[in-house]
Amino acid sequence: MARFEGKVVLVTGGNRNTGLDIVEKFCREGGRVYMCGSTPESTAKGAAALASRGCPGVRSMPCDVSDLEQVKALFDVIEKEAGRLDILVNNAAHQGIGKPFVEMDPAYLTEVLGVNVRGGFQVTQQAVNRFFLKQPERGVVVFLSSNTAMRAIRNRTAYCASKGAINAMVRAVALDLAPLGIRVNACAPGYIYTERWDVLPEEKKARRRLNCPLRHEASGEDIANVVAFLASSDSSNITGEIVTCDAGCSCQHMPEDVDV
Ligand SMILES: NC(=O)c1ccc[n+]([C@@H]2O[C@H](COP(=O)([O-])OP(=O)(O)OC[C@H]3O[C@@H](n4cnc5c(N)ncnc54)[C@H](OP(=O)(O)O)[C@@H]3O)[C@@H](O)[C@H]2O)c1
Repeated sequence: MARFEGKVVLVTGGNRNTGLDIVEKFCREGGRVYMCGSTPESTAKGAAALASRGCPGVRSMPCDVSDLEQVKALFDVIEKEAGRLDILVNNAAHQGIGKPFVEMDPAYLTEVLGVNVRGGFQVTQQAVNRFFLKQPERGVVVFLSSNTAMRAIRNRTAYCASKGAINAMVRAVALDLAPLGIRVNACAPGYIYTERWDVLPEEKKARRRLNCPLRHEASGEDIANVVAFLASSDSSNITGEIVTCDAGCSCQHMPEDVDV
């Protein structure tokens, strides 16, 4: 039997890049998958991409996770159509790119936290209250964090702060929900190959790969494998954990070419 046969799965931000690979993973392993992008256009584009990858059964619906009314509407649809939810993957993220701290409007910080922290919070709360607590088999939550929660990158204060908050939130929510039989964990990626890598010059890709002790960034599939592990019964004794998947970047002080 496929690992996620009979499981209903929701992947937020499942319409492009890593989210698509996560959706495909659950789909290929038997899950009944729901996914959302933030807008009707981006969600429809994702649905078409999934169909062309051979995952036609995925149900897509736009939902801005920072907007509680849209989140409730998404859960209304899942409740009506599937009547249950077993796995939630909080993958949606505002990348908070290109705003140096000295120039950043504080409202931008609120915007990024609104998607990454409040979004993950309210989607998780809906999943727990509307489904997991009512089901004998409960459910499991996986967040996408980032190794930048632990080691910052430049000009990304809002994003790094949001991922640090996600790590703290994962531990706190995991503690509250553990006695109720619900597990909450995170995968913290480093570099992932996405469409943002496609436009990089080859020298920059090579330099980034030299930053990786394993000499290669993660593929979306690498990340999907970790997410699937955390969502499966193979990790049934793990909760409140942040699993780093970053080619060893976090364990090194300096990349090899500048090491002493
Ligand atoms: N890429 C990396 O190198 C890297 C490294 C570390 C951690 N991560 C984390 O891994 C996850 C996937 O990364 P990625 O690079 O594949 O992400 P990405 O390319 O930036 O895609 C972000 C996804 O989130 C969705 N999204 C953004 N705002 C949303 C909102 N308000 N409501 C609902 N959905 C929203 C986007 O949908 P739209 O298309 O509608 O915008 C998109 O599907 C993220 O959590 C990211 O922070 C990525």
